[in-house]
Amino acid sequence: MKTIAVLTSGGDAPGMNAAIRAVVRTGCENGARVLGIRRGYAGLMQGDMYEMNLRSVSDIIHRGGTMLYSARSKEFCTEAGMQKAIDVCKDAGIEGIVVIGGDGSFRGARDLSLRGINCVGVPGTIDNDIACCDYTIGYDTCLNTIMDMVDRIRDTTESHDRCFIVEVMGRRAGYLALNAGIAVGATSILIPEMEFSIERDIIERMRRTQKTGKEHFIIVVAEGVNEKLVAQGINGVSALAKYVEHNLGVESRATVLGHVQRGGSPSCKDRVVASQMGSYAAHLLLNGIGNRVVAMQKEAILDYDIFEALNMTKSIDLSLYDTAMEISI
Ligand code: F6P
Repeated sequence: MKTIAVLTSGGDAPGMNAAIRAVVRTGCENGARVLGIRRGYAGLMQGDMYEMNLRSVSDIIHRGGTMLYSARSKEFCTEAGMQKAIDVCKDAGIEGIVVIGGDGSFRGARDLSLRGINCVGVPGTIDNDIACCDYTIGYDTCLNTIMDMVDRIRDTTESHDRCFIVEVMGRRAGYLALNAGIAVGATSILIPEMEFSIERDIIERMRRTQKTGKEHFIIVVAEGVNEKLVAQGINGVSALAKYVEHNLGVESRATVLGHVQRGGSPSCKDRVVASQMGSYAAHLLLNGIGNRVVAMQKEAILDYDIFEALNMTKSIDLSLYDTAMEISI
């Protein structure tokens, strides 16, 4: 009987539970023993795991977060930590692990694979910033959450003729900001992938729209742009709101959406994609195939070598930005 395991690592994302469920059910239905490892690589090093069965994953498909808990472990990145994890895998008879997480988690999966423990990565992050994938688990739910939150903010924006600067997640990537920005009709969108000028891309745009009669404004900013803001003398979205108010005379506020974006019941898309990817990953391991990342491209599920996946780059669709700027005026 084969023994495979599953863990979630890095920031949680809605849909991770659906992926865990798919791994466990696929494993069990195909005659494997399936272990659930708690708290990612930190739990793996401590041997914090338990045997799961078909019923262990009942009633979780609709829940946000991860029933296996998650963590980011510095110790695991050391040689000693890695060795601990390998010893645990050998003791428990683990032949392969499905690692649900982002790029950092995949680097751990690559290193374990190199040392003889087959790993398959499943992309789970709200940021949608994994190069080999068009889509990552949690992204759709997160976008819809942002859209819902900003729609609420819009009520106040309109009622008080204000400008709201809304900061959304995305430390290194602007997918959330760009797509949510277009969905909420943001006057300006700032993302880390693009150079911008506060004067040209915010102040001048707002001034131009004021002349056409617009009196309330939403600006969507990815958290990852702060360095670029600082380089222009503005540290953080509150300072940006003050700057806008001072320069345009429009009462302004900043809202940092924060971790509300990462929680909540997964959307239909996230549940379906997570189910497909989890099942695909388990089948790879059951067939003795490791060192792969499961990906979605043009709606198809496929897999890549982890090394290749980690070396790929992905660029954001800037034509979407141009469209947003043309129509959100
Ligand atoms: O990678 C997902 C993410 O939510 C990023 O968008 C964000 O920058 C980061 O995690 C926040 O991490 P933490 O929950 O550790 O503060």
